[in-house]
Amino acid sequence: MKDTLEKIRHDALKDLDTAKDPQAVNALRTRYLGRKGAVTQCLRQISTLPPEQRPEAGKLANTVKKALETAFTEALKRLEETAGGPLEALDVTLPGRPFGRGHIHPITQTAQEACDIFLRLGFEIVEGPNVELDYYNFEALNIPKDHPARDMQDTFYISKDVVLRTHTSPMQVRVMEKQPPPVRIIAPGPVYRVDSDVSHTPMFHQIEGLMVEEGISFGDLKGILTTFVHQMFDEETALRFRPSFFPFTEPSAEVDIQCVICRGKGCRVCSRTGWLEVLGSGMVHPAVFEMVHYDTDRYTGFAFGVGIERIAMLKYGIDDIRKFFENDIRFLNQF
Ligand code: PHE
Repeated sequence: MKDTLEKIRHDALKDLDTAKDPQAVNALRTRYLGRKGAVTQCLRQISTLPPEQRPEAGKLANTVKKALETAFTEALKRLEETAGGPLEALDVTLPGRPFGRGHIHPITQTAQEACDIFLRLGFEIVEGPNVELDYYNFEALNIPKDHPARDMQDTFYISKDVVLRTHTSPMQVRVMEKQPPPVRIIAPGPVYRVDSDVSHTPMFHQIEGLMVEEGISFGDLKGILTTFVHQMFDEETALRFRPSFFPFTEPSAEVDIQCVICRGKGCRVCSRTGWLEVLGSGMVHPAVFEMVHYDTDRYTGFAFGVGIERIAMLKYGIDDIRKFFENDIRFLNQF
């Protein structure tokens, strides 16, 4: 038994020297240590030996088994580390992982589309601060500190005199302060209000429009906004101007468009009215002109503020404004 075991050990190690790849090593392992392997068979035969020989034989058999186990494992490791393993595992014909390709956010797309329409109508794009002075956001727009109209907008205050702008209208004042008429600008960008539900988010986007020249009338306002709506949606979409109030315009109007979902018949989206409110507008209030030292006898103008999310929701039939800001890639990929 002792000689047999020594011979097995010797043969196994010699065979291992000639093994060139992991498969060969594994075959040897089965041949010597497998269920029907040479070492296993020796171990089984120990019980047939005379009792006094058993301990020594058992000890030797186990030593050989362990030694071979270690030798095979080390040989495998060596072969995998060098030529065999990783190199063979590198499949150069495998197609690469594709990079996910991004695209412009639906709100930005809608804003760009709207801006393009106004650019074609001769408007110029301007941008201004999101963190705004109380003066531009309210006071210069004919909304003094104690004015009840301040309740219309729930404001994020940074300090007593600094706010996150609640609308893009401060840009009217910033532009007129810097240049004499004629003025024809649009001011797109984010605005902020303390508000959050299916149709409100604390941050949303507006496009402000302002046109000031000699002889500008409410008819010009209607003409520009009608062109905008027809180009943004289609020629069939009807508009209606509803009398309203803003401290910085007089007269003021809210503009509804015919519901693009039900075509005016009445549905869930338009609360069965057939109409959807999309923007606020009006003729610039003389008090605002006075703040920027424009001659109120000579110049008139109109202004409007469009909600971009509103337009995007109608264009794409989205019923929850919050979807735009959750950044769920499955939602965004559809645009
Ligand atoms: N700034 C107003 C709002 O946010 C909209 C508006 C803009 C109204 C310009 C009239 C003129 O509700």
